[in-house]
Amino acid sequence: MCLCRGRVTCVSDAGSRLLHPLLATRWSPTTFDASAKISEAEVESLLEAARWAPSAGNSQPWAFIVGRRGEPDHDRLARHLAGSSGAWAPTAALLVANLSHRLVMDTDWDYSEFSVYDLGQAVAHMTFQAQSLGLSVRQFRAFDRVGLAAEFDVPPHWEVTTMSAIGRAFTDGSRRAASALDAAQRSRDRRPVTDVRWPHAARDHR
Ligand SMILES: Cc1cc2nc3c(=O)[nH]c(=O)nc-3n(C[C@H](O)[C@H](O)[C@H](O)COP(=O)(O)O)c2cc1C
Repeated sequence: MCLCRGRVTCVSDAGSRLLHPLLATRWSPTTFDASAKISEAEVESLLEAARWAPSAGNSQPWAFIVGRRGEPDHDRLARHLAGSSGAWAPTAALLVANLSHRLVMDTDWDYSEFSVYDLGQAVAHMTFQAQSLGLSVRQFRAFDRVGLAAEFDVPPHWEVTTMSAIGRAFTDGSRRAASALDAAQRSRDRRPVTDVRWPHAARDHR
């Protein structure tokens, strides 16, 4: 039996039966409820989830610029969206810029070989904390990295690596929601597990 108990956004292939419901029901919507709000306590819990992610040498090479809709920082973040993300991301209750600590200040030395890897893991933690709160996350690269860094005085040894749009996805039966859901689900094909599992590993153990 599928562990996600048939929720409408559950991944459709058979592998979902093996997944925890939080994993099986996660997806990245582009249609958010533009009237839904996110509380400061929810924002704090998202940052707390990121804070407790593992990182190489416990270097914690991440930082987040957060803007709740209706607050000035949401508008400042939205100002730097690309044409594509600008069409949907502002409807999310929360916009987040995900920053990685790339260089040691005033040098061209790596701060950590794993800073982008670790940031990705922190964002993944934030994503599942959001999912547990009934919120959805779409991570994206479609924004003006240079413009956003200038807007928030991000120094050159930090990189604005990605953004996340976080909010309540439309899951009701309206036509708009259904078509957005369909479009999102269509683009969710995955490589089979036989492809993901490195083919030569078993032979090496003979
Ligand atoms: C690093 C990264 C960059 C992404 N960039 C974009 C983007 O610029 N625009 C967009 O619409 N989605 C973007 N996505 C979302 C992916 O397209 C999406 O996660 C993928 O299609 C799988 O769908 P799912 O998350 O619903 O499983 C990005 C995701 C990641 C992790």
